[in-house]
Amino acid sequence: METIEKLEKIKKERKEIIESFSKNKPQDTYIDKTSSKITEIYHTIITDIKEEAPDVKTFTLTADKSSTTPNLAPFKAGQYITIHLTIDAPPVTRAYSLSSSPTLANKDIYKITIKRVENGLVSNYMLDEMKVGDKLDVSKPAGEFGYNPIRDEENVIAIAGGSGITPFISLAHAILEGIYKCNLTVFYSVRKYEDVIFKQEIEEINKKKKGVKILVTLTREEKEGFLHGHINQEMIEPFIKEFNTILMCGPKELYRSMNEILNEFNIPRKSVHYENFFVEYIPEEKTTYQLKVIMKDKVSDITCKNDETLLVAMERAGIKAPSLCRVGECGYCRSVLLEGKVKMIGASLKKAEAENDYIHPCVSFPDSDIVLRLDI
Ligand code: FES
Repeated sequence: METIEKLEKIKKERKEIIESFSKNKPQDTYIDKTSSKITEIYHTIITDIKEEAPDVKTFTLTADKSSTTPNLAPFKAGQYITIHLTIDAPPVTRAYSLSSSPTLANKDIYKITIKRVENGLVSNYMLDEMKVGDKLDVSKPAGEFGYNPIRDEENVIAIAGGSGITPFISLAHAILEGIYKCNLTVFYSVRKYEDVIFKQEIEEINKKKKGVKILVTLTREEKEGFLHGHINQEMIEPFIKEFNTILMCGPKELYRSMNEILNEFNIPRKSVHYENFFVEYIPEEKTTYQLKVIMKDKVSDITCKNDETLLVAMERAGIKAPSLCRVGECGYCRSVLLEGKVKMIGASLKKAEAENDYIHPCVSFPDSDIVLRLDI
């Protein structure tokens, strides 16, 4: 079927769904325009695995030339790909920032760096089971985080915590290779020297002295050649210029403390950009709700705890719900809330979506029993 026909079909189906289940009339707005977000899956082969630190590995993914996707799409430093794995049915997805230079995509290579998460189904599987030669399906690169030459200043300060360093390694390569004309200073906070990811790469990048500097600070150890303690005002001050762009990627606590410091420098909010890769909601009282999921040809009645997202509940119950970014940004999981209340954390929902009862299940926590319509 031609792409245009496919889009028309999707639009028509969406309108039917909305008309059936929403009290409001749909309009030709954002929803229709973004219905072109059809996931493109690339088939890749793991061609290298590098141990970066204890429980952290970089996977080199090369396009599977024998497949229907012998080439990989280009990407911008800061974007992520979503891996699709079948560990126990149904398939699961996880998004990881690309850690390689964007120019490597021209050679049909992506790199992702994965840190083990306690009880993390996908990270543990990737670190323990996947080996060189294994095949891996990934989505096309997506995401808005990173340096934007039209929006951003020439003096860029990046703040990274733990595995939040990955997009900045990609950005550092992009600058060194002349893709962007800006200066980058990265403050990278980890607990101990052994936790530093990309040790060798950081050393090589710093040696080049070409407008990119990565300063590592160890919070629980003192070591020659490294800063000591949490990232603070004194560390950053020498690098602040008249106009700055701040990029942050790391845990929520880091964002909180950095915002206080940035206030001291009077850096406007519009100059600060965050990568969002966690979703958390801590309810006052834990409880479990009923979740009815209406799909095209079946209805499932499952349960959902109020501290887990609707997406996680569906995956746990074996429902192959759509997902990509898993942090409320891409809109790929968008579904219709037919009944009930949810707490949606940080979703970038457009007006037309909200008016037509759409929610993003990847960042929606139940606040009552729920009836949800999935377009699958
Ligand atoms: S998976 Fe991207 S918004 Fe839910």
